[in-house]
Amino acid sequence: MHSLIDITKVRADTPGCTQKIFLNSAGSSLMTKGVVNVMQSYLEKEMILGGYQTVPFFQHEIDAFYLHASALLHTSPANIAFNFNATDAYAKAVSSIPFRSGDFILTTEDDYVSNYILFISLQKRFGFQMVRCNTLPSGDIDMFDLETKMLKYRPVLVSVTHIPSNSGKIQDVEQIGHLCEKYDIWYIVDACQSVGQMDIDVTKIKCDFLSATGRKFLRGPRGTGLLYVSDKALEAGLEPLLIDMRGATWDTENSYKPSGSATRFELWEANYSNILGLSEAIRYAVSIGLENIRAYNLELCQLLKEQLQTIPDIRITEEGSQTGSIVTFTSDTKTLDEYKNTLDMANISYSVGYRHFALIDLNKKNVDWVIRFSPHYFNTTDEILQVGEILRKKWGQ
Ligand SMILES: Cc1ncc(COP(=O)(O)O)c(C=O)c1O
Repeated sequence: MHSLIDITKVRADTPGCTQKIFLNSAGSSLMTKGVVNVMQSYLEKEMILGGYQTVPFFQHEIDAFYLHASALLHTSPANIAFNFNATDAYAKAVSSIPFRSGDFILTTEDDYVSNYILFISLQKRFGFQMVRCNTLPSGDIDMFDLETKMLKYRPVLVSVTHIPSNSGKIQDVEQIGHLCEKYDIWYIVDACQSVGQMDIDVTKIKCDFLSATGRKFLRGPRGTGLLYVSDKALEAGLEPLLIDMRGATWDTENSYKPSGSATRFELWEANYSNILGLSEAIRYAVSIGLENIRAYNLELCQLLKEQLQTIPDIRITEEGSQTGSIVTFTSDTKTLDEYKNTLDMANISYSVGYRHFALIDLNKKNVDWVIRFSPHYFNTTDEILQVGEILRKKWGQ
C-alpha cells in the first residue's frame, strides 16, 4: 500500500497503538504524545500558579487554537468557537435560531441520535415541526425530495449529519448547502465524524454552522469540541439562547452587546489545558494532511471490508456512494456477545451501536446491533489482515 504518511513516525507519536489493534477512532481515538505533553505542561504551571495566573503564560498558544481550527476548516479565526463537545456546539447553534410556533425544520433519516432528541425536545417547547427528507435505496439523501420539501415547507433550518455514527456513508453536504443558499435557509452540519478524517471546507459546504468534537478522528482530548459560525449568522445577530459574559458584554443595566466573533458561542469558564490539547491535535492532523489521511483510511477500509466479506456470517451494513472510515457489520446467526468475546480476547478495540442509536436507519435494516470498526492513519494493513484472520479462524470456512 502506498501512502504519503510516515506511518512509522505516526505510530511512534502514538504510544497507545502498540498495545492493541485500535479500531475505535469514531468512538474516542488515541491522543499523540504531543497532545498529552502540552496539556501536562499547562496543568503543571496551573498547579503552581493557580488557574487565572496561568492563562497569560499560554495566551499565545491559546490564541493559536483559533488559527489551527480555522486552517482546518478553511475559514477565519473569528468564525471559530471552542465548545465542550460536539453536542454542546450543535445545541448552542440550534438554540440561536429564532423558532416560532408553526415553523418547520428539515432534517434527514440519519441525523445523530442526540440531535434528534434535541429537536424533539425543542419541538415540545417551541411548537415547530420536524420534517425528514427521504433516503434513496443507495443510502444517499434523495436530493429531489429534499428540494421538494424545502419548497413545500419553507423550513427555517436544515440539519444534516455529514457522516452518520453507525454507517460510514458521507452525505453530500455541498449539494445541500447549494440548495440552502438558493432558498435562503439556515443550515447546520454535524461534522462530528468527518472532521479529522477528511478535508472539510466550509466555504464549499456553505453552511451557517458546523459542529465537531475533539476526541474522535481529530485525536484530541475528551471534553473538547468546536463550532464554525458563518459571517452571515454572526451579522444576522444569531446568538445562543443561554449566552454569558464570554459571549457578550453587559453594557447597560438591561442590555448586553454580543461579541462580534464566534466566541459568542463560548462560555467564560473553560479547561484551558483541553483547548491546548485540541489545538495541538488539529495542528498535527493538518501537518499530516487531511487528503493524505482520507486516501490512506479509504485503503484501510477497503481492505477491512474485503476481509469481512470472507466471513459468511457477517453482514456489512454499509451503504452510500461515498464512504468514510467507519465500517459496520452485524450477524444474523451469531450473537453480539460471541463477537464481543472474540474481539476482546484478541485485544481489538471497536464500538457497538444499538438500534436506538440510529433508530430510523437500523429499523429499516432490521438490525439490533452493529459492530463498528473505525480505522485511522496510525493503523497498518497488517493489523487489518490480522483482524480478518482472527475472525476467519473463529467463523470462516
Ligand atoms: C455524528 C455524531 N454527532 C454527534 C456526536 C456527539 O458528539 P459528542 O459526544 O462529542 O457530543 C457523535 C458522537 O458519537 C456523532 O457520532
